Amino acid sequence: MLRSRLFYICSIIFAFYFAHVQPTTEQITAPWEVDALRAIRGSLSDPLGCLDNWNRGDPCVGNWSRVICYNVTASDGYFHVRQLELLRLNLSRTLAPELGQLSRMKIMDFMWNSIGGSIPKEVGNITSLELLLLNGNQLTGPLPEEIGFLPNLNRIQIDQNHISGSIPKSFANLNKTEHFHMNNNSLSGQIPPELSRLPSLVHLLLDNNNLSGYLPPELSQLPKLLIVQLDNNNFSGSSIPSSYGNITTLLKLSLRNCSLEGPALDASGIPQLGYLYI
Ligand SMILES: *[C@@H]1O[C@H](CO)[C@@H](O)[C@H](O)[C@H]1NC(C)=O
Ligand SMILES: *[C@@H]1O[C@H](CO)[C@@H](O)[C@H](O)[C@H]1NC(C)=O
Ligand SMILES: *[C@@H]1O[C@H](CO)[C@@H](O)[C@H](O)[C@H]1NC(C)=O
Ligand SMILES: *[C@@H]1O[C@H](CO)[C@@H](O)[C@H](O)[C@H]1NC(C)=O
Ligand SMILES: *[C@@H]1O[C@H](CO)[C@@H](O)[C@H](O)[C@H]1NC(C)=O
Ligand SMILES: *[C@@H]1O[C@H](CO)[C@@H](O)[C@H](O)[C@H]1NC(C)=O
Ligand SMILES: *[C@@H]1O[C@H](CO)[C@@H](O)[C@H](O)[C@H]1NC(C)=O
Ligand SMILES: *[C@@H]1O[C@H](CO)[C@@H](O)[C@H](O)[C@H]1NC(C)=O
Ligand SMILES: *[C@@H]1O[C@H](CO)[C@@H](O)[C@H](O)[C@H]1NC(C)=O
Ligand SMILES: *[C@@H]1O[C@H](CO)[C@@H](O)[C@H](O)[C@H]1NC(C)=O
Repeated sequence: MLRSRLFYICSIIFAFYFAHVQPTTEQITAPWEVDALRAIRGSLSDPLGCLDNWNRGDPCVGNWSRVICYNVTASDGYFHVRQLELLRLNLSRTLAPELGQLSRMKIMDFMWNSIGGSIPKEVGNITSLELLLLNGNQLTGPLPEEIGFLPNLNRIQIDQNHISGSIPKSFANLNKTEHFHMNNNSLSGQIPPELSRLPSLVHLLLDNNNLSGYLPPELSQLPKLLIVQLDNNNFSGSSIPSSYGNITTLLKLSLRNCSLEGPALDASGIPQLGYLYI
């Protein structure tokens, strides 16, 4: 009788321990981030087996390859993914919307693979994201306007894909963006004059697209602009805004084969301009 009561009490203590104490003492990756990583791998094809260890143990504690975590746990007691370094792995198929669950990620790098499908709008949920590197893939579909609200995005490189549609006006909110690389896609429509609000913009690369309309004179208001490439678009019949002669920071302005007309640019006010291609 006494023994069975003792056993009963011990069982309760054990149950309590495993239910309440264990999870806070053992440090692991946030479970929803583990699920997201599994979904990300599940929607990719990985012919070289680079992600083979993504089904064993814990991502941050057990060292899944090319997943880099913060080296201390967050206030929620879990480890979180900081970077995905998945460049040049011959990955194909698509990007899973679950990427949006990696909400503390700073670097998302899928450069130089063969990934198709569209860019999941859920990437716009990763408010900590600083580098979005998707260049050199087979991505199609439009640029999700959700990405335009990422408050910490320093670099957006989606060049050399098959992205279509227009540049969302929401991208005018990318306050921290220095590098805007969208060249060699199939973007169409007008360059939004609103992009002139980007206070940090240094590189504006939109060459080799299908852009039309006029060149926004307002771009001369960009305070840090160094390089502008717009070659091989079709701004049929419009002219180079004279305000561009006022972009004193400019090092390179490239406007080859853009169907531009009218007077040439007076660049005498741009002391550092090394390349002017028209
Ligand atoms: C993770 O892998 C790296 C390099 O392979 C190694 O230096 C490190 O000790 C590993 N960490 C753990 C916790 O296994
Ligand atoms: C932890 O990470 C930070 C930045 O991510 C780094 O500066 C620091 O050296 C790391 N500490 C250790 C012990 O690896
Ligand atoms: C990776 O893909 C490239 C281009 O698709 C191909 O040339 C190369 O052979 C592939 N590498 C391997 C190791 O399969
Ligand atoms: C993630 O993004 C989707 C689509 O943009 C949105 O509906 C959802 O509310 C977001 N979730 C969180 C947790 O922010
Ligand atoms: C960018 O800065 C402007 C003006 O300071 C502010 O109104 C806007 O909310 C900021 N946008 C983001 C995405 O932080
Ligand atoms: C972009 O496209 C142009 C025209 O098709 C091509 O000449 C150029 O090599 C491409 N740039 C890159 C970096 O692939
Ligand atoms: C370029 O855009 C025009 C309309 O502005 C469209 O008719 C044409 O098919 C597009 N070309 C390509 C290669 O996307
Ligand atoms: C000039 O631009 C058009 C698109 O506007 C493109 O179809 C054509 O190939 C380009 N020509 C050269 C020489 O790059
Ligand atoms: C540019 O667009 C105009 C008007 O849409 C068209 O007539 C012209 O053929 C286009 N030029 C090139 C090089 O595609
Ligand atoms: C260039 O800047 C000066 C001073 O900021 C201004 O007065 C002038 O109107 C500008 N010129 C053009 C063509 O925008």
